[in-house]
Amino acid sequence: MKTLIFNGSPRPEGNTAFLVDELRAMLEGETVVVNAFTANVSPCIDCRECWESHGCAIHDGMDEIYGHIFSADAIVIASPVYNCELTPPLLSIFSRLQNFYAALRFLGVRLMPMGRFGAVILTGGGDGSSAKAESSAKMFLRHMGAPSKALVTSLKTDSLLACEDDRAIEEVHALGNMINELAKNR
Ligand SMILES: Cc1cc2nc3c(=O)[nH]c(=O)nc-3n(C[C@H](O)[C@H](O)[C@H](O)COP(=O)(O)O)c2cc1C
Repeated sequence: MKTLIFNGSPRPEGNTAFLVDELRAMLEGETVVVNAFTANVSPCIDCRECWESHGCAIHDGMDEIYGHIFSADAIVIASPVYNCELTPPLLSIFSRLQNFYAALRFLGVRLMPMGRFGAVILTGGGDGSSAKAESSAKMFLRHMGAPSKALVTSLKTDSLLACEDDRAIEEVHALGNMINELAKNR
């Protein structure tokens, strides 16, 4: 059982990192965390090479991440809300899923494995809606064949840090249990 967690926060001791660490501490099996701010991934430049052949023409940190996406049984997107969205480096990473879309649309080949488990963790200071970030995270999980089955939120971190947010901690523990149950049934 392999769980791939995308962490969209630049803060190693931040709210998102706290919830990711709580989850990791519970998980049985292999866990890989991709830190979006240090992953060295450029955004898709719409070069359209993937319209004609499989894969992405850009070679950078995403090469390794593609491998993790393919082999993961569960994928979790964890991010602070920035301007109502996922953070920019996460959006860069997920823009590079475009070659899978192009393979299906222009080459008639489904390259992405399906039937995996997906979940979303969001943190926010408490100003504005997280609906757009949630909807983006769910869309990218669908693109990775891992439709979202659970949502963990801590959305008032300006006044209540995630590490003091009992409800968010309960939710993340429930998520850990769900993933461990999944492992038992494989
Ligand atoms: C550039 C930027 C934009 C932000 N935009 C929002 C927002 O739209 N809504 C919100 O609730 N919080 C917003 N925040 C606050 C963060 O989401 C919040 O502090 C979060 O808990 C940080 O997570 P971290 O500690 O894991 O990095 C923003 C913070 C930054 C730096």
